[in-house]
Amino acid sequence: MHDPAKLRTMHRDRFAAEPKTFVAPGRVNLIGEHTDYAEGFVMPAAINFATLAAISPRTDGKIVIYSENYGEEKSFDASALPKKGSGHWSDYPLGVVSILAGEGHKIPGFSLTIWGDVPLGSGLSSSAAIEVATALAVLSLVGASYPGPKLARLCQRAENEFVGSSCGIMDQFISANGKENHALLLDCRDLSFKLAPIPDHVALVIANTMVKHSVAGGDYPTRRRESEAACAIIDSHRGNVPFLRDATLEDLDKWGSEMAPKSLMRARHVISENLRTVAASEALLRGDMKELGRLMTEAHHSYSQDFEGSCVEADAMVEFAQGLPGLIGARLTGGGFGGCTVNLVEQKDAEAFRHELGRRYMAKFGISPEIHICHASGGAHQID
Ligand code: GLA
Repeated sequence: MHDPAKLRTMHRDRFAAEPKTFVAPGRVNLIGEHTDYAEGFVMPAAINFATLAAISPRTDGKIVIYSENYGEEKSFDASALPKKGSGHWSDYPLGVVSILAGEGHKIPGFSLTIWGDVPLGSGLSSSAAIEVATALAVLSLVGASYPGPKLARLCQRAENEFVGSSCGIMDQFISANGKENHALLLDCRDLSFKLAPIPDHVALVIANTMVKHSVAGGDYPTRRRESEAACAIIDSHRGNVPFLRDATLEDLDKWGSEMAPKSLMRARHVISENLRTVAASEALLRGDMKELGRLMTEAHHSYSQDFEGSCVEADAMVEFAQGLPGLIGARLTGGGFGGCTVNLVEQKDAEAFRHELGRRYMAKFGISPEIHICHASGGAHQID
């Protein structure tokens, strides 16, 4: 687990300077997949896996970034920052620096150490955690701060404009604004949100299929384009449908025949997922775990069948969870095509659930999955 004291020592040893330290969590999404860039609804929770960042000023005009996870240091000239990423891990922190510079902040030289335990490439938003931790660190250096929603937007822009991945705002938003023991229903149109307590007796069991997931890869943008093509057809008929958030299932009945079959399927997922996500937040708020579980199951089927965002391993991980004692609901979480499933499980059954799910997965695929019993944690903040 991430240890701020170790990070400080690491930073001091490498850069001979006393740092300020920050933490930003990864996330698990309970429901609302591929709805954020359609200006719809998502309901993630921040988790107790996080990225730590330590920062101290330098006098030589350089930006030196060290990643403990990659065991590598990269150096840049603070007065000549690149405008685009180069496909390297440093794109994520550097992208944030570049966006902040574009916002008018004069960025001085600094040393940054980043170290995290969010499993990389597993759909738990390790990149958003790096971005948000970096943003807090650099903002403190320049003596500025932003409210959580704006901070999230800037980090999303770093990913869209610098890294070149077409993600929505969910991951950065929950990393910046999460609350201990709560899920957060976010309206991705105006960034208003509602917190819903996750009852004490419920554990978040996160099961890693060990199949690598990447938002930058081809499938994510393809799905996004397909769903947006459906939206354009609806908009051409009745106007005022700039995003699928504004579309209804009736629109698909009327004009679905004009859509490419895959576009129609993607849109059906996004439109129905928005309805499910709002219903799921209402269920959680009134403590109706049974209904929440039912909606999660339905969401997984829609994600897998209509959006074709799952994979054999993730479908099996969801399937293997069914019928295990204590299960409330299970589905693939995050950008898709691999990564993790999220399982809401009665706390008292969580350990046995973890063990049996891992056993079943191992028996089928010969891979031992990492399965974590997590809880919802707080959003990004300064540690000292
Ligand atoms: C990734 C993206 C998010 C969101 C999800 C899918 O995590 O970064 O913006 O689109 O996929 O719900």
